[in-house]
Amino acid sequence: MLPTIAREDDVVVMIDQRKLPAKELYVRCKTAPEVARAIKAMVIRGAPAIGVAAAMGIALGTRRSTATGTQKFAAEFARTCDMMAATRPTAVNLFWAIDRMKQSLAAGVQAGESVDQLKDRLDREADAIHDEDVANCRKMGAYGADVVPQEARILTHCNAGALATAGYGTALGVIRGAVEAGKRVTVFADETRPFLQGARLTAWELVRDGIQTTVITDNMTGALMRQGKVDLVVVGADRIAANGDTANKIGTYSVAVLAREHQIPFYVAAPLSTIDLKTPDGSHIPIEERNAREVTHVGSSQLAPVGALVWNPAFDVTPHHLIAGIITERGIFRAPYTESLRRAFE
Ligand code: MRU
Repeated sequence: MLPTIAREDDVVVMIDQRKLPAKELYVRCKTAPEVARAIKAMVIRGAPAIGVAAAMGIALGTRRSTATGTQKFAAEFARTCDMMAATRPTAVNLFWAIDRMKQSLAAGVQAGESVDQLKDRLDREADAIHDEDVANCRKMGAYGADVVPQEARILTHCNAGALATAGYGTALGVIRGAVEAGKRVTVFADETRPFLQGARLTAWELVRDGIQTTVITDNMTGALMRQGKVDLVVVGADRIAANGDTANKIGTYSVAVLAREHQIPFYVAAPLSTIDLKTPDGSHIPIEERNAREVTHVGSSQLAPVGALVWNPAFDVTPHHLIAGIITERGIFRAPYTESLRRAFE
């Protein structure tokens, strides 16, 4: 399986997703600020992977703490959590993972553990977040395979694969699950401007797996659907509000509207850690705006003239009524989402 991220004793190692597919390079983060910078710069990206990276970064930061007393250690830990929380605002998995690390520390302090014991517990919690994510993706894949026809042409947007998780993937996990279930699947990968996660990362992963993949530019999706060449859409999510409204990579909303027009089922695959019941609907989801250079340039080549204004929201929100179902590790949830998603946590 693809090595997205791993924790070695005193380093966090991650594949540099900015360089794929041209180069398979690994970044070795030796400090928590290095992990935070890697998340911000999208060395590692994808909602679940961001959460795992933050947890490992926190464990790394606290492992390197020289504090001998619990109080000083806890204060340093809190500052590291704040630094991770300031990296990217939309993927709720980030805040979910930070909360889990905080709860773990609180339980250790409550039990009167020494600083060394607290460090060990935080390492274990980060590893658990990583391992559970892989297991959840596999479960999602198995549930999701049920909605994939025996022969299916699946369109996906962005990269919700092994690279966006601790391994296996959410949307690509569903595709992998369907293939493992013996279904004949081919994939259309939207290029996904401006960061090109579809062309660079999704296509790279699937080609490595031997799954036939056709890359299209984002503006080809409508024509492809109109020609009857798409049976199903499956995408990932960065945050799902209590009513099912789903934030995902910019362009997902347009795909969902096109899918509705062409009566193609549009599914979201995401772990429960992406569902945010505290956010009532999509209008409350914070949408990250990224650097103008991502739009004006491709690599070092400038496309747009100096002086042109740029709007670069990294995500959009797909309203729940366009979503046929939300595939999770606990099964597939359908409308009315306010009830089904609440039940998912019971
Ligand atoms: O900006 P990115 O690359 O972090 O955005 C990633 C996405 O939008 C993914 O579709 C989403 O995080 C789901 S990943 C399983």
